[in-house]
Amino acid sequence: MPDLSNAVLMVCGGAGFIGSHFVRIVRKYHPTTRIVIYDALTYAGNLTTIQDLLDEQTTFVHGKIQDSTAVEGAITANEVTHIVNFAAESHNDRSILDSGSFIQSNVFGVYVLCEATRKLGITKFVHVSTDEVYGSINEGKFTEDSPIMPNTPYSSSKAGGDLQARAHHITYKTPVCVTRGGNTYGPYQYPEKLISYFTVRLLMGKKVPLYGEGNQVREWMHVEDHARGILAVLLHGEPGGVYNVGDENERPNREIVRILLEETGRGDDLVKRIEDPRKGAHDTRYSMTSNLTRALGWKPEKDFETELRNTVRWYRDNEWWWQPIIAKPEYTDFIRNFYGKYLGEDL
Ligand code: TYD
Repeated sequence: MPDLSNAVLMVCGGAGFIGSHFVRIVRKYHPTTRIVIYDALTYAGNLTTIQDLLDEQTTFVHGKIQDSTAVEGAITANEVTHIVNFAAESHNDRSILDSGSFIQSNVFGVYVLCEATRKLGITKFVHVSTDEVYGSINEGKFTEDSPIMPNTPYSSSKAGGDLQARAHHITYKTPVCVTRGGNTYGPYQYPEKLISYFTVRLLMGKKVPLYGEGNQVREWMHVEDHARGILAVLLHGEPGGVYNVGDENERPNREIVRILLEETGRGDDLVKRIEDPRKGAHDTRYSMTSNLTRALGWKPEKDFETELRNTVRWYRDNEWWWQPIIAKPEYTDFIRNFYGKYLGEDL
């Protein structure tokens, strides 16, 4: 039985959305595991997200995964035994504006972590990726054996990281697993994704930009289910293995918007249907099986509608977290640059 009780776990990107929930889950189920949150605090990572977590068990190191000296220094200084990597540039729309930083973090950064794992004798490294590397599927479901066919600058950068992990395992036997998660929602998600962005805008009474008619389908999973799936792979995954983590809860965007309108008490007049800014790169449907992760003992537990409504309530009750974030230039500049021409005076 794998054991984390004496482990020192470095959680790269632990001040971001899924990474911070992962830290919470590890603290709950493995209270003796030491955790080092390693985070560059880019626009999407915030100390306010983890301020209640830092103590003797959980410490923070500021650094980028692309910086091999900083990564290896943090591993050596803290006697790290395990690594889970959430650090990534993760927003498709930002990658359409400029994808250079995506290659730096999502490809080169993963290479640095693979090298550190190999050189410093890390017991296991789990790299967190996405179902988007498979591309879009109109019917049926992807499995871990499906070809990698990414369509966007973001998803192709994630695919590049996955392939670095694969090659490292095949070439050097580096003990690395890859997880590919579905779309994820919940508290502390940076307010730029469909659910988090629309929720804060609707709470403020602002219009939300729905791309086209909202017919695209995504597989939505609560962040705690996602974090538990990654933990199952850390504990039981086969080195070199790829594990899909999704709960087969498929919804078109327009249905998400309907629930958000209901829960925020807003009307359809706040939905602005805009020409699709993703153009050719807008994937129609993501869908995959997650049987390999289920075989490790994991299953998703959260009911979608209940938790989506709870998530809206969390944003309503926690303006202290998101109001300062949406006031920063790194947020307002992106919203203006990306949505300006579509939202006009409704920006
Ligand atoms: P998003 O949350 O960005 O995740 P991903 O692109 O990784 O699936 O987008 C989810 C869906 O919502 C996608 O089909 C695009 C759509 N969408 C909008 O219609 N309007 C928006 O402002 C955003 C951010 C997304």
